[in-house]
Amino acid sequence: MSDDQNSAWGGRFQEATDAAVEAMNASVAFDQALALQDIAGSLAHARMLRARDIINGDEYNAIEGGLVSIAAEIREGRFEFTVAREDVHMNIEGALADRIGATAGRLHTGRSRNDQVALDLRLWLRRELTTLGHELSAVVTALSEIAETHASVPMPGYTHLQRAQPITFGHHLMAYAAMFLRDIDRVVDTRRRASVMPLGSGALAGTPLPIDRHRVAAELDMPNLTLNSLDAVSDRDPGLETLSTLSIIMVHISRMAEEIVLWTSQEFGFVTLSDSFCTGSSLMPQKKNPDIPELLRGKAGRVFGALQSLLVVMKGLPLAYNKDMQEDKEPLLDAMATVRTCVGILPALLSAMTPRVDRMADALGDGFLLATDLADHLVSQDVPFREAHHVIGSAVALCLDRGCRLEDLSLADLRELHPAFGDDALAALDAGASLAQRDVPGGPAPKRVLEAIVSARTTLDNLGTALETGGP
Ligand code: ARG
Repeated sequence: MSDDQNSAWGGRFQEATDAAVEAMNASVAFDQALALQDIAGSLAHARMLRARDIINGDEYNAIEGGLVSIAAEIREGRFEFTVAREDVHMNIEGALADRIGATAGRLHTGRSRNDQVALDLRLWLRRELTTLGHELSAVVTALSEIAETHASVPMPGYTHLQRAQPITFGHHLMAYAAMFLRDIDRVVDTRRRASVMPLGSGALAGTPLPIDRHRVAAELDMPNLTLNSLDAVSDRDPGLETLSTLSIIMVHISRMAEEIVLWTSQEFGFVTLSDSFCTGSSLMPQKKNPDIPELLRGKAGRVFGALQSLLVVMKGLPLAYNKDMQEDKEPLLDAMATVRTCVGILPALLSAMTPRVDRMADALGDGFLLATDLADHLVSQDVPFREAHHVIGSAVALCLDRGCRLEDLSLADLRELHPAFGDDALAALDAGASLAQRDVPGGPAPKRVLEAIVSARTTLDNLGTALETGGP
């Protein structure tokens, strides 16, 4: 049996751990990502132990000095993690013992790895969610800037991927800004609920030692304590909520990515993407492929998979801690890294897009996108909407018959379909006028788009503040 092996629990054991068991049991290969949070939690715990006189001043100083030097080595990438020490917690405690001797053994007083890992994960999630929230803000800022420049550039809006009604390019982009603003709000919320302090729950049943949970929570800028020791050591809701939030973000990113793929196709041609964001084909010399939007679309798969994976790990587990829960980390780490990569590239991708105003205007020209406006004209002449809808349907049929557009019909043609068409009926068939009239809050009228941009910026400021409250 090696010195390291079983050092935390070896007392009861006579035989060395099987090598295959050691390999399967070890989590240090991935949970070392939590090392700095583990040390922050240990420092807060040690300060409390000192304040409660559970350890003396010399012991505290030795523990603090040792942990600070280990943290420095980790930051500089000089710390060596070893599988023999199983997980991140045992690696750090073992390294502390290497440095300060037996005093290291006092750090774990009143604590279990079960409440320790619960804390580490919450601290890690809080930090990652803060960063992610700010990265999402940069995406909303980029969308708002482009939308501001194109607030009155008309383009067709779609339902069923069929041309439906005129909107503006700015309005279309702000639809995504609205989604990402909700995402940031969800990130703030997820982060707030994750910032709850579990230490003091022990392995499952608390501790008889005179610890001070509130003090540890205050040290860590965590406003609240977990409510129940059994739940605290076996609750992976912060992970589940984070993965749900990340999955919804990927739904939004994948939809935007898909539209960029469509827009850059020759069929749409609404946008060109700069060469720096595309790749070529090794076979077809003419190809310019939108790989990055395609990857953004595709990476949603592994994030949804991570959510599914943790849901299934947690389903039906009895209270309290079970080793199954160690399987929470890889999906979380991978999903967070994936989403942050995707979110991180979006501002640059958006600025690599050049909208083709001419192509959007052409697309707006055919397809009867102003048919509803003509129906609305009849409504303004006191015709019930259902009847107006039917009349304009006949007008469209007439155009299809003649191979012309609505604006090619004469007033006489229209009045033959319904006598109520006013003298200004054909003026309804102007995209600019149609857009300006869609002057409802949240609507595509250019002034409403500009209003939405102003409001998005205010919301971003407020969410930015919320992301900074309650610790890093
Ligand atoms: N590596 C473990 C995990 O991530 C830490 C908690 C282990 N606790 C235990 N009693 N084995 O879940």
